[in-house]
Amino acid sequence: MLEAPPLLLAAFSLGLVLLVLLLCHSYSGFLLICWNELVLQPLYNLFMGDTKEQRILRHVLQHAVAGDPQSVLEAIDTYCLQKEWAMNVGDKKGQILDAVVREQRPSVLLELGAYCGYSAVRMARLLEPGARLLTIELNPDYAAITQQMLDFAGLQDRVTVVAGPSQDIIPQLKKKYDVDMLDMVFLDHWKDRYLPDTLLLEAPYCASPCTPISPSSYPIPYQPLTLLLGQPQSGD
Ligand SMILES: C[S@@+](CC[C@H](N)C(=O)[O-])C[C@H]1O[C@@H](n2cnc3c(N)ncnc32)[C@H](O)[C@@H]1O
Repeated sequence: MLEAPPLLLAAFSLGLVLLVLLLCHSYSGFLLICWNELVLQPLYNLFMGDTKEQRILRHVLQHAVAGDPQSVLEAIDTYCLQKEWAMNVGDKKGQILDAVVREQRPSVLLELGAYCGYSAVRMARLLEPGARLLTIELNPDYAAITQQMLDFAGLQDRVTVVAGPSQDIIPQLKKKYDVDMLDMVFLDHWKDRYLPDTLLLEAPYCASPCTPISPSSYPIPYQPLTLLLGQPQSGD
């Protein structure tokens, strides 16, 4: 069997170490999030006997004022800045969101990806009388937290929280949720769904080849449809 010269082996090992270091450096933010979400977080949850999302809600219930959406937002921002990172849109991008909602003044607003309800509270507090927000959340535990967050903020009458995958709920919006027209959509779920869900929403109004399978099951016009592409980062 051929033996690699020691110098070659050493160079190869050094190269490997440098490559790992380079990858760690390039993806340090991503690796930190993975380490936090996949290792530290589950251990902490096990130790505490609850989840981060439940801890965020508890912090809000203890520190915010019932019926005051602004205090709910501030409590979430404070907790996620000082205690545990979470994937809320955060205050910085939240202000951009505020500006768009104020400008567009939507009557029917759709959000894809509610998480703990931070952006739902943020947008719903700015809705004009009679306007409503529908927010779709894949994870039923997160959807339940969002509902409690909205109840506490006093915004439950303006918002419908729907638990389930956007791709299943969007085609039901007309029949099940009485949506005729969307004025604005805030896309803030997983990025691989941005394009397919946009096409799902656009479907009835695109010329061929985007012809919908059945126009009656996709009757959601948008005039105009504001699409905001959110980033799943908090407070940056
Ligand atoms: C970045 S978080 C949303 C943050 C929230 N908009 C906020 O700012 O407070 C993304 C959320 O999208 C949800 N999600 C991912 N894919 C989804 C899908 N196909 N349908 C509905 N929700 C989805 C995830 O469970 C997660 O809670």
